[in-house]
Amino acid sequence: MKDVSANANAKKAAGEDAADLVKSGMVVGLGTGSTVAWTIKRLGERVKEDGLDFYGVPTSFQAEDLAIASGIRLTTLNQHPQLDLAIDGADQVDANLFVIKGGGAAHTREKVVSCSAKRFVIVADESKFVEKLSWPVPVEVLPFAAKLVERRLIDLGGRPALRLGKMKDGPVITDNGNFVMDTDFGVIVDPKGLAAKISPIPGVVEHGIFDNLDELYLARASGVEIIKRRG
Ligand code: 5RP
Repeated sequence: MKDVSANANAKKAAGEDAADLVKSGMVVGLGTGSTVAWTIKRLGERVKEDGLDFYGVPTSFQAEDLAIASGIRLTTLNQHPQLDLAIDGADQVDANLFVIKGGGAAHTREKVVSCSAKRFVIVADESKFVEKLSWPVPVEVLPFAAKLVERRLIDLGGRPALRLGKMKDGPVITDNGNFVMDTDFGVIVDPKGLAAKISPIPGVVEHGIFDNLDELYLARASGVEIIKRRG
């Protein structure tokens, strides 16, 4: 689908620049969303034009379809448990490189794939980069546990909203067959602390707070800036 958003050019710049990180022989996690879609398309071009020879591990049906259409060879975490690199998009990234993901409801597989990689890179336009996170945290939930999880998220000070389908009545169903609760916590002062409180709720499959980002490819008006984790 064509991206006609105001940030489409910035997304393209960040996405395509990060494709240069992939070298022949690598196994690479392929993220989900409209920004990393540019990375996947560019990688497909490099396969065709330069003979780039690598394997991709997709994080969603969307990423898998696009990778196949782009001519990228795919593998699984069973076959390749350790990845050289994972590249993905984000909904927000803060100054300490904490990230919120899951706008495409793919954050569970995205977390598994990025945590399987030696290096995790996010591609984003400038609108995603903030001082403090405030995006509603996507929480993937077993449908059977929805009411319990909802109560517990409220107890933590959140305002959970079941994500609803756009061209489907009722809830969005993830690639794993679960619901998503977008949970507004306002400004998140302690992302790691909040993540540690959401994870143990029975029925929570995965939340969208990521603390494993190594490098951010951030498209600004002046060009793509690379921000690395300190220390
Ligand atoms: C999917 C994600 C996406 O990477 C995130 O929503 C960013 O998407 P986009 O690049 O389309 O803005 O986390 O679950």
